[in-house]
Amino acid sequence: MRVLIAGAGYVGIPLGRALCAQGHVVFGLRRDAAEVPAPLCALSADLARPATLAALPSGLTHVVFCAGADETSDAAYRRTYVEGLGNLLGALAGQRELARLVFTSSTAVYAQQAGESVDELSPTTPAYFTGQRLLEAEELASNSGIEHVILRLAGIYGPGRDSLVRSVRDGRATIAAERGQLTNRIHRDDCAGAIAHLLELPQPEPLYVGVDDEPVERAVVLRWLAARLEVAEPRVSSQAEPPGRPTSNKRCCNTRLRESGYEFLFPTYREGYASLLSPRGGSP
Ligand SMILES: NC(=O)c1ccc[n+]([C@@H]2O[C@H](COP(=O)([O-])OP(=O)(O)OC[C@H]3O[C@@H](n4cnc5c(N)ncnc54)[C@H](OP(=O)(O)O)[C@@H]3O)[C@@H](O)[C@H]2O)c1
Repeated sequence: MRVLIAGAGYVGIPLGRALCAQGHVVFGLRRDAAEVPAPLCALSADLARPATLAALPSGLTHVVFCAGADETSDAAYRRTYVEGLGNLLGALAGQRELARLVFTSSTAVYAQQAGESVDELSPTTPAYFTGQRLLEAEELASNSGIEHVILRLAGIYGPGRDSLVRSVRDGRATIAAERGQLTNRIHRDDCAGAIAHLLELPQPEPLYVGVDDEPVERAVVLRWLAARLEVAEPRVSSQAEPPGRPTSNKRCCNTRLRESGYEFLFPTYREGYASLLSPRGGSP
């Protein structure tokens, strides 16, 4: 494969490294190309500025869009996902060998908040701009005319993204008193692994939910971390949530991804966080 990773960052770099190790040629695109390590070929470009995308390498066979917005604002989400993917698709128009596009979306497209199970067939009626813009971008991928796979990822954690661990260790984490809150997650290395799997999977479905095996209440994870860290359990707080972004509370289901043959490196938060707590696990 000759793969372009648009947004070679937290997930894109380990993905690129793994693909290079399998003998593929990988181009890692981001604004700060100095951050793209060998053996990836670094490309400096801004997805929000079409002129910078004019000289993409020829003969690309596969493209992964996994850029992340700079901040959680409607403008940033529109710029990165909607305009960014639109600009990239425009720049790819002349590529004759392009076989597949993988777009990393988010489980934020699901508005379900009452602990419902959601999968690829569940309704998507997001009330918040995060899910709305990502759905718009999914639509662009679906209408691109390129064979596409959308992977809806839940919260990504892993080396260097361990704020939950630190909040428990520092005693800052709190548990909301009145309600359980089901959370879903996926380890960075399973994001990279699942994308690599979907790049080469024969006859993939156009859509997969990318989460680990175990939706779990946030409080359960916090208490598990406290026990592993041998620190006090997070205190229970009765303070109301600040208004704004709706609290996620749903049970995301990875059956389709699993049945496609993907085997998780970290099937639940227990294996994933245990690896972060091991002596070398926390380094990026
Ligand atoms: N984090 C989560 O919990 C989560 C949950 C669900 C889905 N996702 C999705 O999963 C994907 C991978 O996540 P991630 O954490 O690896 O993302 P990330 O590290 O936040 O972003 C990846 C890279 O995108 C590049 N980028 C951003 N804007 C760009 C632009 N305009 N032009 C070119 N490059 C740009 C950034 O590099 P430069 O700054 O150098 O340009 C960054 O290193 C993203 O699409 C994200 O939306 C993430």
